[in-house]
Amino acid sequence: MIRLEDVCYAYDGVPVLRHVDCTIAKGEAVALSGPNGAGKSTLLRMLNGLIYPELGRYLFKGTEITAARMREHRYAKSFHQQVGFVWQNPDIQLFCGSVAEELAFGPEQMGLPAEEIERRVEDALELAGITHLRERAPYTLSGGEKKKTAIASILTMNPAVWTLDEPLSALDEASQQWLIEFLLALKQAGKTLIFSTHDAGLTRQLADKEIRLDAAHLCTIRS
Ligand SMILES: Nc1ncnc2c1ncn2[C@@H]1O[C@H](COP(=O)(O)OP(=O)(O)OP(=O)(O)O)[C@@H](O)[C@H]1O
Ligand SMILES: [Mg+2]
Repeated sequence: MIRLEDVCYAYDGVPVLRHVDCTIAKGEAVALSGPNGAGKSTLLRMLNGLIYPELGRYLFKGTEITAARMREHRYAKSFHQQVGFVWQNPDIQLFCGSVAEELAFGPEQMGLPAEEIERRVEDALELAGITHLRERAPYTLSGGEKKKTAIASILTMNPAVWTLDEPLSALDEASQQWLIEFLLALKQAGKTLIFSTHDAGLTRQLADKEIRLDAAHLCTIRS
């Protein structure tokens, strides 16, 4: 489903991703590990079509993801419906006037009928345990509540691929447990999961394989 071929990326000439090479199959759960600054968030941005390899190729279902490809409105729209991104900092992700609007935004963009949108929003509110927050403005929420809202807003789009940057950050123990169960259920449902984490426990519980971005920026894979 996802193929990175010898991918290199640099910020202002400073290399961050060097010769990353890996394949991620449909339904696989993949942990991205490595020290601070290793390039995990950078790799997630690339997988979401927000930045592009400077050398090498990123193939999504056989299509090379390039700036030109993502400028094609129809392709970009379909791509973003298939690949969901839960940012580490939910403030970047949330922009609507209320939690309910936030959850409805994705399926509205997909052009789903109003009844279906309503059903998805209700289901996601309930699943995330945030029904009581539905009319609240996202900026008034606590960090953990924002995180759950961000996750629920991806859930209403039901993407095949979920990418998550440090998904456990900002969550208390009970919410972390909830999220682990949630991610296990997504995996059970056949979704592809790619997440960065410093939490070896999460990797152990959830990941089929680990891609470690180490100091040498080489991609090593443990199955
Ligand atoms: N927009 C940017 N401009 C310049 N440098 C950047 C930019 N974004 C990231 N970097 C640098 O690229 C390197 C990799 O950053 P990245 O955020 O991908 O690391 P990370 O593995 O996610 O780290 P962490 O564990 O701290 O989240 C870091 O040295 C960072 O300072
Ligand atoms: Mg990061």
